[in-house]
Amino acid sequence: MTTLLCPEGRVEGVAPPSVGFGVDRLDVGFLPGGGVELRPRGTRTSLARAVPFEASPAVVRDGVLHACDARWHITITEGGEVAISEGPTPRWRGRADAGRWRIPLAEDASLRGAGERTGSGERRGRTLRFRNTDAFQTACQGWCPEDDPLYLSLPSVLHASGGVVTGWITDSPATQTWTLDDEALLAAEDGLAPFLWFPGPTPADVARQRHAVLGPPVRWPAWGFGWHQSRWGWADDEAVRDVYDGYRSRDWPLASLWFDIQAMDGFRSFTWDPVAFDGRRALLDDLHRDDVRAVAILDPGLKADEAWPVWRDAVDGGYLLGGTSPYLGAVWPGPSGFPDFTAESTRRWWADAVAGWVGDGLDGVWIDMNEPSDFVGPGGSVPDSLAVDGDGVATTMAWAHNAYANFEAVATVQGVQAAYPDRSPFVLSRAGYLGLHRSAGAWTGDAPSTWATLATTAPMLTGLSVSGLPYVGSDVGGYCCDASPELFARWMQLGLFSPFFRGHSATNARRAEPWTFGDEVEAIAGEVLRLRAALLPTFVSLADAAVTEGAPMLRPLWWDHAEDAAAWTQDDVLALGPWIVAAPVLTEGATTRTLTLPPGRWLDPVSAQSWTGPTTVTLPTPLGALPWFLSEGAILFRADRFDPADAPSRVDDAEVASIDLVPGIAPSTAAWIDTTAAGAAFSRRLTHLVAADGAITWTVDAASPSDLEGWKARTIDLRIRPVDARPAAVTLGGAAIAEVDAPDPFDPSLPTAPAW
Ligand code: GLC
Repeated sequence: MTTLLCPEGRVEGVAPPSVGFGVDRLDVGFLPGGGVELRPRGTRTSLARAVPFEASPAVVRDGVLHACDARWHITITEGGEVAISEGPTPRWRGRADAGRWRIPLAEDASLRGAGERTGSGERRGRTLRFRNTDAFQTACQGWCPEDDPLYLSLPSVLHASGGVVTGWITDSPATQTWTLDDEALLAAEDGLAPFLWFPGPTPADVARQRHAVLGPPVRWPAWGFGWHQSRWGWADDEAVRDVYDGYRSRDWPLASLWFDIQAMDGFRSFTWDPVAFDGRRALLDDLHRDDVRAVAILDPGLKADEAWPVWRDAVDGGYLLGGTSPYLGAVWPGPSGFPDFTAESTRRWWADAVAGWVGDGLDGVWIDMNEPSDFVGPGGSVPDSLAVDGDGVATTMAWAHNAYANFEAVATVQGVQAAYPDRSPFVLSRAGYLGLHRSAGAWTGDAPSTWATLATTAPMLTGLSVSGLPYVGSDVGGYCCDASPELFARWMQLGLFSPFFRGHSATNARRAEPWTFGDEVEAIAGEVLRLRAALLPTFVSLADAAVTEGAPMLRPLWWDHAEDAAAWTQDDVLALGPWIVAAPVLTEGATTRTLTLPPGRWLDPVSAQSWTGPTTVTLPTPLGALPWFLSEGAILFRADRFDPADAPSRVDDAEVASIDLVPGIAPSTAAWIDTTAAGAAFSRRLTHLVAADGAITWTVDAASPSDLEGWKARTIDLRIRPVDARPAAVTLGGAAIAEVDAPDPFDPSLPTAPAW
């Protein structure tokens, strides 16, 4: 007899069988952060997780397995009925049923997330596939409006019912199919997947609990959150220089320029076209002098070319799928082989190649076609039957398919870090699986330039980010084909709030440089880019919250307003962090935009108009207008002094020049990140905003003066709005400071505001 001490008392029983319990041979694990995992014995190492699985002690009594920690009591019957209870109260029930999970759904249950999807943010009522797919279809010139699956698979979902939000993950990179109807049927093709349950009860709690298991996202450099310009087709270095001159002549903030496959030598990864890009060194030097970064594409499909040393190395080293007689598919270069990134030796070889190539003047890497796409393979990918190393435990591509891009991203980041050990690595990927966030961000691939695509992009981006991938964006203007000026302008406005913000288009599409859309759009784009540059320190602060707490940067409205029913129905509203809400226009010819603001006080940061929610607001939306709002509690770090026109045009660091504060009922906290130190070094201070007892207090944590060492002396402007009464006194560190007798120092067009 063995005894288990559970929250409601002792449970006595016998030791469970050594192979795991019941038909699906389950073990129970209690996760750091407070979740529970149900894991079939013998499951391969997880890619999603950053911490190893530990099976909890358990006992079997009368054919039922029991496992407990201080909070949870798990029971599993031989037939696979599982209950997770908090003491005596059941919190989750499901069944491991012949290789799939079967979970009853309450009538009010809503399921959100599940990664990259077209359509509405509500996933209930749908069948979802998890299989990374190069979704380009000629008929749609990209992915089609109803397509499923797309490039990236994140089997991670939030379940909301009865006011409680929990999180679920089925952790298998093999192809999965979920049917979400009266019940949820979650099936992976390689058998029952480990099931991870996160108790919530709020979305932010789920994110923190998930973060404790999945690990923090990679810390992107500040410039990663600036505006990037790309295009497939800039023919030579002169063409890229022209684009760069376009930015310089407008004095527009530009984070980086991107080199697509046309810059390669015959579509060979790691190469440059020696003729068309013979002037690239001087070009890259000039870009770097202005703090503009260079990012280049890297495809896994390697040209089968005996005369090319990279190919010979790959074959001789046995680094490819198929080993020394490699499988040949076809991608841009024609017949091509594909590295087996699941092998550690391949990853080392790849990282070396990346280090040499990136170290020669590039700053970041864009890994594409990594589903992996294969134009001649079954279903557009390499065959599932191919053997892979599987990180030392041999398996096949059937298991590795969705994981392929993760292993590639890990190796690529290693290479970038080897080239620049003192910098934060920037890698963007098209495909991936849970865990990709530890290496890279992602974009939504070949999004056609249509209004339907723009509309679906909003919930697609939030779907990705609530599933655990914080750095996400879309090709502004759409990838293909020709965006109208209006569509481009509206897409810029959506992109403004996306963590990753890049203009890109296909070789047969019109260019995505904003000034090619006419004067009106040029002026609008200039304003958007300045505002983005002004908000860059806020993006860096939100990225820090993603790294430290797993908080999504971009969110649906319900994330921070889960108690507000109307928030759950507004897929077209985006929230950036906890306090910025944007209502981008996603339909053609719209002259107004309506949204329902959740309870609380809301401020239009531009007009200073305020509302008290819940309230439905309709605002005029001429092409330049982008309704956005600040909620109470807002702490907004800005690189400008409240006027985006003076935002710096260099996107190097994200130095804070001013801070917008919106005092609220509840105290709020944000991390102020100082990126002015060299390289990857940064320092971090928490700042707090409290409005209580008639005083509004803003503080910066510093344990001691030496704690602020490395922080350079600076002048910061603070703006506090709305303020209901004229302050009796304003103090700094306890000492009164004098009032300035002047019109609004930040915006002379506004009525006079008191300033100190
Ligand atoms: C893929 C990418 C696209 C890129 C093209 C050429 O379609 O999704 O962004 O421009 O390949 O490299």
